[in-house]
Amino acid sequence: MTRIKMAGRIFLNVAFILSLPVMVMAGKLDPMGEIPHPADNPGTPAKIELGKKLFFDRRLSGDGTMSCATCHDPQQGFGDGLDISQNYPTTRNWRNAPTILNVAFVNHLFHDGRSATLEEQALVPMMSAFEMNQNLDYVEEEVRSVPEYVDEFTVVFGDGDITRQRIGMAIAAFERTLVSRDTQLDRVLQGEKNVLSPEAEKGYALFTGKGRCTQCHYGVGLSDNSFHALQVKENPEHLTDPRIAATRRFVAKINGYAEYRTLAEDPGRYLMTKSSEDWKAFKTPTLRDIAITGPYMHNGVYANLDEVIEFFNAGGGEGNSALQPLHLTGEEKQQLRTFLEQGLAGAPIEFSYPKIP
Ligand code: HEC
Ligand code: HEC
Repeated sequence: MTRIKMAGRIFLNVAFILSLPVMVMAGKLDPMGEIPHPADNPGTPAKIELGKKLFFDRRLSGDGTMSCATCHDPQQGFGDGLDISQNYPTTRNWRNAPTILNVAFVNHLFHDGRSATLEEQALVPMMSAFEMNQNLDYVEEEVRSVPEYVDEFTVVFGDGDITRQRIGMAIAAFERTLVSRDTQLDRVLQGEKNVLSPEAEKGYALFTGKGRCTQCHYGVGLSDNSFHALQVKENPEHLTDPRIAATRRFVAKINGYAEYRTLAEDPGRYLMTKSSEDWKAFKTPTLRDIAITGPYMHNGVYANLDEVIEFFNAGGGEGNSALQPLHLTGEEKQQLRTFLEQGLAGAPIEFSYPKIP
């Protein structure tokens, strides 16, 4: 009896020591729970419905060709399926359109975290010269000229005044409802047994163990809501398309980057903080529903999950100090991919397209 106990204790100690470096760094995974609607913008059904209409309304763009859904398309995992996102005619975008699934759980919006709330974020693409290129005074008048919208704003906000702030509030309330529910991981975390396939089960162990993924991808949204310089390679188009160069210099200039004319790469979070450790640092994105939200990374440079796993396995991009090589076998890479694809896929979102007034 004693001997068995002893053996057990020794075994435990060895296992503990072996797993120590991983355990110390790993963050805790949490299942999907209540959607955090802020107190100053509660998500009432009427507001969510109004926000949905605005999200799909092409009036929000300068030339009336684009809505938010153009680049955050429900058929494309609420991204646009392109490496570098779409753009206002004659311009070119410079980054990948992230999914807006689960943005309710994102504390810093955009790849460089430049918006803190969805309410404020919604106005940015409307104003952006290379996205919707719309004038906000004009869009207020445009929406105000539609009697159905005046009625709906009255129901939602108590009077028919249509302001940019209220447009942002309604869109934000709608966006918060887009969450991936009932993933296999959620069920595992809630204590259900035998949820994952044997292959995905092994991938899950790699995700939390040898792969060190939960060092940064944890919590409900599978993100630490922080920024890391992984030195993802540049998208080749950044070097060859002068329109992308124009966009990059423009964004750098309006964010107070002095040498914007000679800037040849995406400085990431640095543009916001001007702190050297943020040079080329980007936000840790959510991994929920990752199978349907490619291409991947801030510049869409990886077309599929195999390429992303290869990147992490190699210890990230040249010169980074955030990651180490993982030495995963071919089989392990496969298992990790199976977990990402199957374990993190949400139940299909019940979705109906609104009728635009
Ligand atoms: C022309 C394409 C395009 C349009 C139109 C567009 N977006 Fe985006 N969206 C993007 C790109 C690209 C990014 C990432 C930009 C960056 O990080 O600099 C983004 C980022 C976001 C994010 C941040 C997500 C995150 O995880 O950080 C949200 C939320 C969002 N968009 C909502 C909207 C809303 C609401 C609208 C309509 C008012 C809209 N977008 C219109 C391309 C677009
Ligand atoms: C040091 C923190 C860190 C660790 C560890 C880490 N990631 Fe990431 N991950 C990030 C950041 C930051 C990005 C975004 C990089 C960019 O946009 O250039 C990212 C991007 C991704 C993406 C692309 C998401 C998208 O929508 O574009 C996937 C997939 C991913 N990681 C999976 C993993 C897996 C699997 C592991 C473990 C093998 C892992 N990550 C480990 C920080 C980390």
